[in-house]
Amino acid sequence: MLSFVSDIHNCNVVELPKIHNPAGNITILQNGVHLPFDIKRVYYLYDVPGGSERGGHAHKNLHQLIVAASGCFDVIIDDGNNKKIIELNRPNYGLMVIPGIWREIVNFSSGAICLVMASEKYSEDDYIRDYDDFKKFKNV
Ligand code: TYD
Repeated sequence: MLSFVSDIHNCNVVELPKIHNPAGNITILQNGVHLPFDIKRVYYLYDVPGGSERGGHAHKNLHQLIVAASGCFDVIIDDGNNKKIIELNRPNYGLMVIPGIWREIVNFSSGAICLVMASEKYSEDDYIRDYDDFKKFKNV
């Protein structure tokens, strides 16, 4: 099998536009303007009990932008060779996660909302849910 090359160093935290307003700020995401992919799906995690861990998988083709719309959490990204922990704690910053990256989301604060913009519709076939399969996919 050909190895799939993607690197955590290409998963960047991006600053999103913010319209300041004393009565409450606005952050905007528009296809073709603020993202390197078009959004086909949006989902969000909420009511996450303290101590829960989410993720624990990689995607073969999916690009995602992960935003802490409320509260904070840590995203652990892993390309098979290197790992890094990124704390997301502001609604106008998002983490771009490219295909072929194992991710875990941990340390959810009370009331945290993990908002995810995704480049594709849901497909279970796109998931790699076993870490040994992930290592084979990455040829590491
Ligand atoms: P999963 O992506 O594994 O959750 P997380 O990474 O946040 O822990 O999804 C959990 C379940 O929800 C799984 O059974 C698939 C289902 N699901 C959908 O049906 N559609 C979706 O768009 C998503 C993201 C998940």
